Amino acid sequence: MNERKKDHLEISINEDVNASYNYWDDIEFVHNALPEIDMGEVDTTWEEFGKKMAAPIIIAGMTGGFEAAKEVNEELAKIAEKFQIGMGVGSQRAALEDESSVESYSAINNYNIPLKIANIGAPQLLEWKDAVEKASKAIEMIKADVLAIHLNFLQEAIQVEGDRNAKGCLDKIQEVASSLSTPVIVKETGAGISKEVALRLCETDIAGIDVGGMSGTSFAAIEAYRAKKMGDSVQEELGYLFKDWGIPTPVSVMEVADVCHDAGMVVIATGGIRNGIDAAKAIAIGADAAGMASAFLEDGEKKMEVVLKALKTVMFLTGCKNLQELKEAEIWIS
Ligand SMILES: Cc1cc2nc3c(=O)[nH]c(=O)nc-3n(C[C@H](O)[C@H](O)[C@H](O)COP(=O)(O)O)c2cc1C
Repeated sequence: MNERKKDHLEISINEDVNASYNYWDDIEFVHNALPEIDMGEVDTTWEEFGKKMAAPIIIAGMTGGFEAAKEVNEELAKIAEKFQIGMGVGSQRAALEDESSVESYSAINNYNIPLKIANIGAPQLLEWKDAVEKASKAIEMIKADVLAIHLNFLQEAIQVEGDRNAKGCLDKIQEVASSLSTPVIVKETGAGISKEVALRLCETDIAGIDVGGMSGTSFAAIEAYRAKKMGDSVQEELGYLFKDWGIPTPVSVMEVADVCHDAGMVVIATGGIRNGIDAAKAIAIGADAAGMASAFLEDGEKKMEVVLKALKTVMFLTGCKNLQELKEAEIWIS
């Protein structure tokens, strides 16, 4: 039983753990009163990693490792299957260290999901002597098409029992990425990726970056609530203090998009995307796809339907027939 992942899920549902300001609100589309296309023509299809998805939306990895997580992952898998979009699972550390929780992740294999993303943390890769073998097992566990290595040093710094060793991380990422045939992406978890870090990542064999920026779920806030529960008032206060730490997701996308695309890498924007308009904004400023996590924790199926309809509606109202055109859509930034 993985108490930590259970806490993360419960706290995300029950407490306000969002960053104080959502920077997607600073971007607006210029409305096109004469779009000169029919809405029926709008094509949101996204092809990447050799897969075809109905839209450039990914259910970002959240959970696994305890009994109730199986149900959550299955609910998310049903949505991914129904709408033919990509999906990630949460950190698979629990199942790699204890076989009994494998099913809470592998249950998604019963669904026809076009793109599955395995997940492990860079701090754990640093700890494990058999990191490449563990990474392969994580991929095998959910028959993944992509492996996400997450960077979460803000969270680790606040977490009472956090892993605070970051030395040697880039080399480890390269060791794993160069040893696997499955594409590897690097994903931040709420503090964003700068241009300087993207340039260093471009030197490795990874296939993409999920900027995982600040604007939505704050892991500093989640760990503050956990620290409170554990009676550690110092880490609790530290967590609240760092709640808004990081590079806002849109800023991170704009920083890294050209660098990544020049290196042939995919850019995913996760962090604070609440709806299909935010997702469209992410693509208009340079991302290839948008990741959404906490938005799908409740009433996910209906929310996804609205997300996809809103994305299509934005494309219609800006006269964009496909994602390539959406990348060129006119926006204004306040
Ligand atoms: C309950 C919960 C658990 C998460 N666990 C993981 C994880 O294990 N690995 C990971 O890479 N990201 C994890 N994340 C981060 C999300 O994938 C995403 O990057 C972040 O929540 C920002 O997206 P949002 O603002 O749409 O929630 C988790 C998020 C939540 C809400």
